Amino acid sequence: MEKLIGKNLNVSIFISGRGSNLLSLINYSKIKNSKIKINLIISNNKFSRGLEFAKKNKIKYHIVNYSKKNQAELKILRYLRKNKIDLICLAGFMKILSSNFIKKFKNPILNIHPSILPRYKGLNTHMKAIKNKDKFSGATVHLVTPKLDSGKIILQKKVRISKYDTEKTLAKKVLKIEHKLYPTAIEKFLKKSNL
Ligand code: GAR
Repeated sequence: MEKLIGKNLNVSIFISGRGSNLLSLINYSKIKNSKIKINLIISNNKFSRGLEFAKKNKIKYHIVNYSKKNQAELKILRYLRKNKIDLICLAGFMKILSSNFIKKFKNPILNIHPSILPRYKGLNTHMKAIKNKDKFSGATVHLVTPKLDSGKIILQKKVRISKYDTEKTLAKKVLKIEHKLYPTAIEKFLKKSNL
């Protein structure tokens, strides 16, 4: 990736549903001195509520049909190139990117995951934490590699699980910290990678 001194970083956010992390990143991109510019949103789901935030904020978006994953990824790669995207942030994107996609994109890809990785990769993280009577859960921002939820960890934050927590209440608690964690992690990542 070329160095971006004095330039904004062109960011694409990938979503599948509600889009609350997308909203927190849009808000972060608007603060003074923010280096990121969100100029492309990708959703694999035309009913994704997050698309409303794209419309409201006049951010370009594409809905990509994933019935054929290969073709979907090639299409996305074309959009990314066309918009000169420097960084992808997965924010509740529920499709797994192929290693071919990751290799071809070349620039970094970040993901936010609702557990304290390496604990509970994949789905149903809150249910697993409660079932195992864990004392803590949390969220992790990490680099995306071909191995699911296993790339280098940028930042994590924990929340305490109370004995009254259900999957639903824990998900709510974790989501609340995610909204602060993702922008903070991006900032840390940009500083560390000297972009
Ligand atoms: C978030 O909790 C995020 O960590 C999780 O989906 C939710 C999306 O919420 N991501 C994953 O589980 C990815 N494996 P949002 O659409 O409101 O941002």
